[in-house]
Amino acid sequence: MNLFNPLNFHRRLARFSNFNQDDLELVNKYLSEEELSAQIEIFMKKYIGVKYAIVIPSARSGIDFILKAINVKKEENVVTQAFGCREVIETINENCKTKYCDIEENTFNISVDRVIQAIDNNTKAVLPINIYGNPADMVSLKKICKKEKVLLIEDCAHSLGAEIDGIKSGSFGDVSIFSFGKTFLTKGGVLMTNNKELFEKIKNIRDKYQINKKRNISRFFGKLALTSIVKLKKFKIMSTFSFILFKLFEKLNLIYGKESSLLAPNNFELSLALSQIRRNEVLFQKLKNNYKRLYDLLKNEKDLELLPYKNGSLALRFPIKFKNNVNPLELTKYLFRKGCFEPSLNYYNEYLANIKGVKEPEKSLPVSDKTARKSIVVMQDNLPEKDLIELKNLILDFIS
Ligand SMILES: Cc1ncc(COP(=O)(O)O)c(C=O)c1O
Repeated sequence: MNLFNPLNFHRRLARFSNFNQDDLELVNKYLSEEELSAQIEIFMKKYIGVKYAIVIPSARSGIDFILKAINVKKEENVVTQAFGCREVIETINENCKTKYCDIEENTFNISVDRVIQAIDNNTKAVLPINIYGNPADMVSLKKICKKEKVLLIEDCAHSLGAEIDGIKSGSFGDVSIFSFGKTFLTKGGVLMTNNKELFEKIKNIRDKYQINKKRNISRFFGKLALTSIVKLKKFKIMSTFSFILFKLFEKLNLIYGKESSLLAPNNFELSLALSQIRRNEVLFQKLKNNYKRLYDLLKNEKDLELLPYKNGSLALRFPIKFKNNVNPLELTKYLFRKGCFEPSLNYYNEYLANIKGVKEPEKSLPVSDKTARKSIVVMQDNLPEKDLIELKNLILDFIS
């Protein structure tokens, strides 16, 4: 295992090559958190086409603030997909109950029929995830939620920039949440709504619950890592070293767990988010192109089942389904050892093992169960052509 081989580690950080001189310049300006947040909010309102926007510590915290704002009671429930995101479900479970829905086989998005079945008198909200950047059937879900008078919370953690028929993801829900962590590899997120009253409530709740703590040491090493990545272009030992220190200091400053999700992003993190959000179309085009390229590289493999690129999707991740017996957990470990950045154990592990309250998934959620057992997701986003080819070869080596 050569996990700590710096060259391997550096490849795993391939995503960081998204960072460029613009990011560094904005980081060096030392603008305040307030100024940066205000600029992000202005950008998002215009870009998504929703009236109110507020920077939040994380998408998770956004869900928490929404549920607190609508005064959800312990015995009430939120309808969402079991195959999705552990943090989302944990956040719902801290506030009330979760009602799990199955997903559609060919999109991994929540099944609209199952949502209709799941809504009951105790349902306060429906929370679909635009999974891997591919929007759920938000038009139908919007109609259902309107009819049933429940709140539609659109989880856009994966789908900033995605669209349905030219309408931006995040403008369908009564309220929507975005995460910078997923798209820009920095901390924080944005919550959006057209509902002024709900917005004011959420803003007060955010101000009450978010933890404002500056992390200047981590900022220093984060800046050092960014400088070496941008300046050296081929960021090897130096960027790896400062990145590790950056992460270490983040950890020492109470990262992970409940508190980290409530920690307000500092100006280093907000600068990175703002700078990248401003050139989002370039980044997003890369995601889509690489998705299509990897699809072409793998589409003739008869042991694999792929999801073709769907118009409007952000294509944040590349899901791969297996027709034969492949152990997804072993495959993701193998890819990780070989230096791939973040092949996802995520949804496999979380769904099957870690989520409390998913009872007998095989019976009630057959598609989620099958998908979790027979698929992985890889990150294709910023890989150069030769790495895409290597990724393909690694996958084929493993399954053959
Ligand atoms: C679909 C989805 N929603 C929400 C989140 C939480 O995002 P954050 O890390 O910003 O809390 C994640 C994170 O993995 C996610 O995948």
